[in-house]
Amino acid sequence: MKDEIAVLYPNETVSTAVLKYYRERSLPLPDHIGRHADLTEKELGDKSEMMVSRLQAQYLLWTARSLGAKKILEVGCFTGFSALALAEALKDVEGAKIITMDINPETGEIARRAFKDAGVDHFVSLVLGPAEKTSYVTYFNTIMGLGLLRQDGVLIADNVLKKGLVVDASEVNPNVADAYASSKVPYLQEFNDLLAADKRVETFILPVFDGLALVRVL
Ligand SMILES: C[S@@+](CC[C@H](N)C(=O)[O-])C[C@H]1O[C@@H](n2cnc3c(N)ncnc32)[C@H](O)[C@@H]1O
Repeated sequence: MKDEIAVLYPNETVSTAVLKYYRERSLPLPDHIGRHADLTEKELGDKSEMMVSRLQAQYLLWTARSLGAKKILEVGCFTGFSALALAEALKDVEGAKIITMDINPETGEIARRAFKDAGVDHFVSLVLGPAEKTSYVTYFNTIMGLGLLRQDGVLIADNVLKKGLVVDASEVNPNVADAYASSKVPYLQEFNDLLAADKRVETFILPVFDGLALVRVL
């Protein structure tokens, strides 16, 4: 199971206990969503690491509900775990719509089944096919250019801290040995710097798991 370790705490034992504490005292995920994450882990093994963490899913649920979100576009559905959390937030909202995209028909099939089982398939649609494989910068510029987000609309981007490599990609960080993560670092640095400088938005980087950038349109 993917976990969050806050460096503030002196060791893994304390960090794990703290994580359990704040997870248990934050808005819980409904059981069927937790079970879906368990099932993904059981069926897909290491690949299940692609899911957002449980805590991130709790946060997405809380945030979508707090924002009064009505329409959500997700790029990267995988088996539908994060989409289920978002759907939970929107299930009683009139006219709600969630579009989630993915290139993989096999995980897409798992997601579609989960949306049906959860009774949210009437407003959650999976679009199968390749989104343009590109960087967060291009997605951000496209979304802003097309005006897809209303005033106070929010874009959330995951993994913006990339195992700490965006801050320090020298030998001091053992994650530098992860060639895939390292290859993403320049794009994420560019993205984070762009957000920090862009006067059209306000950004807050929340250090939940590997960093969520929250970008609110002014
Ligand atoms: C990190 S996972 C998403 C995890 C999901 N949000 C969750 O929490 O369960 C990223 C997904 O993006 C999909 N993907 C990768 N490249 C893509 C592309 N060019 N177009 C559409 N989907 C793509 C992958 O198949 C994978 O399922």
